[in-house]
Amino acid sequence: MPYEPHEHAIWKRLYQRMLPQWEHGATPVFLEGVAKLALAPDHVPELSEVNARLAPLTGFQAVAVPGYVPAAVFFDHLSQRRFPTVTSVRAEAQMDYLPEPDIFHDVAGHVPMHTSPVFADTLASYGALAADLHDEESVAGALARFFWYTIEFGLMDTSQGLRAYGSGLLSSYGELDYALHSPNVVRRPFDLAEVLATPFEIDHFQNQLFVVDSFDQLYAAVGELRRRFAAIGILS
Ligand SMILES: [Fe+2]
Repeated sequence: MPYEPHEHAIWKRLYQRMLPQWEHGATPVFLEGVAKLALAPDHVPELSEVNARLAPLTGFQAVAVPGYVPAAVFFDHLSQRRFPTVTSVRAEAQMDYLPEPDIFHDVAGHVPMHTSPVFADTLASYGALAADLHDEESVAGALARFFWYTIEFGLMDTSQGLRAYGSGLLSSYGELDYALHSPNVVRRPFDLAEVLATPFEIDHFQNQLFVVDSFDQLYAAVGELRRRFAAIGILS
């Protein structure tokens, strides 16, 4: 998709101001992902270029979608290692906040994580679990909370200290530092039951976040979620 010069300029500004924050606040896996994908600092990348580097690593592909996709379609994509990706660029007035994803959130925030085999396995198994439900509606809240507190806003305890792996944080100039350092944020050890019981609001910075020790822990949590759903008889 051809982009306008002002859209390349917005990408460049977003990228340049996040880069120093990533170096101090992103999980090493994310930083390695940015390097492996060779994301362009000064222009909006083409998904075909990103995918040429991504697919050999984990089988994941970023596939263009026009915006919101229904939950069932979204889960099916994930289960097939396809990440629905918005390709539009935010408007200048939305540099600091936008309520829906744009290509910077999706490609610079999410896709670097998909270079990690265990993270990719986690995301695909989450999608497969959701796609296997015959009553997805009854646990839509639980599925959303899991995704929110991990894929979007997850923190990790690393050898370099507390770091973010959630794309909502990694694509937000204001919120990444807030999530890692603000005294207003309660950072709780990841516990599946607590994650599933913690509602979230999307219109302000998050004041409760969950910290994993490893992506193996996250992968195991999807397995535990599958066992819970099987126990209540909603798995096909
Ligand atoms: Fe996202």
